[in-house]
Amino acid sequence: MKKILVTGGLGFIGSHICVSLIEKNYSICIIDSLINSSEDNLLSIKKICNLSNNFLEDRITFFKGDIKNKRFLKHIFKKAIDDKKPIEAVIHLAGLKSVNESTEEPLTYWETNVVGTLNLLEAMQIYNCKNIVFSSSATIYRPTINELLTENSDLGPISPYGTTKLTIEKMLEDLAKSKKNDLNIINLRYFNPVGAHISGLLGENPKGKPNNLFPILLKVASGEYKKLSIFGADWPTHDGTCIRDYIHVMDLAEAHISALNFILNSSSVFINLNIGTGIGKSVLEVVETFMKVNKCEFEYSFVSRRQGDSPYLVADNRLALSTLNWKPQKSLNDMCIDAWKWKITSKNKFK
Ligand code: UFG
Repeated sequence: MKKILVTGGLGFIGSHICVSLIEKNYSICIIDSLINSSEDNLLSIKKICNLSNNFLEDRITFFKGDIKNKRFLKHIFKKAIDDKKPIEAVIHLAGLKSVNESTEEPLTYWETNVVGTLNLLEAMQIYNCKNIVFSSSATIYRPTINELLTENSDLGPISPYGTTKLTIEKMLEDLAKSKKNDLNIINLRYFNPVGAHISGLLGENPKGKPNNLFPILLKVASGEYKKLSIFGADWPTHDGTCIRDYIHVMDLAEAHISALNFILNSSSVFINLNIGTGIGKSVLEVVETFMKVNKCEFEYSFVSRRQGDSPYLVADNRLALSTLNWKPQKSLNDMCIDAWKWKITSKNKFK
């Protein structure tokens, strides 16, 4: 059974990836600082995967800690070797991810995302771990209008968050070029991951005030917020609202499994892949779909554009499809249904 380190493994995306990894018979070691996640997710992962206590130690271990802490990272790799179960690959998700916050706290973003990744790569080098799947983002592209983004589209992030993701990609590219390291690297450039695990036990639950559409939508639909503010009705799109490529978080998780299988069976690869559905949906289309499939209604109004938004961000995902032998399976309907189920389940749980 191969052991995989998942940094940020208790966050929204990480926890769903952990479920897929366990289902595919990997053994996982999770590290997470818990600054934007919760240990409850560990219990949910175990529950979904139906892991009986006897076998738990073998399948899933969790260490609370921060990637800014070099000693902590080295300890994780060393312990795995001492236990004779070395870490064979890393899925690296740990990092800060609010576009907005990054414009206010750029140094914090550089320290956590860039320095944290540097620490991780150093530890990997010391302990001879040669495989990494990195969680990158579509925000590294220069915004376009009505043009699908390929992996060769112009780069040009417009937020410090995007710049840190691009910087990490460059760091990984330099490592890949240095022959002596012989690494396998895949950068997965996520578009807009939403939805939740079908069980309703895992989903997106950001700490503090949410900034992203789905967590806000869930609060409006459940009555916690009075109405949804749609940022801009005058964008150059068919209905005037921004278009995004929403992808179900379980499809995204499966893309990681495919990427992992790919690098574990390769030598010296460096690949950038867009992970989206290739289908663009406007904010209004998301709102209408959500109301229809979940048979609910809520108020919304149009307000001025949000700074830093771009009108259109949709993936040309053909390279990912052909490289990974992977295909997104879930529709916007599924994303809305599963997200709502998660909201209802978690609301009852925390009552
Ligand atoms: N939106 C609203 N009202 C809200 C919140 C969002 O109208 O209250 C709109 C935004 O203007 C945007 C769309 O909903 O048009 C999606 O916004 P999100 O904040 O959910 O997502 P973004 O596209 O801004 O960014 C997300 C992630 C980034 C990631 C990026 C990749 O937050 O981390 O997708 O495309 F990098």
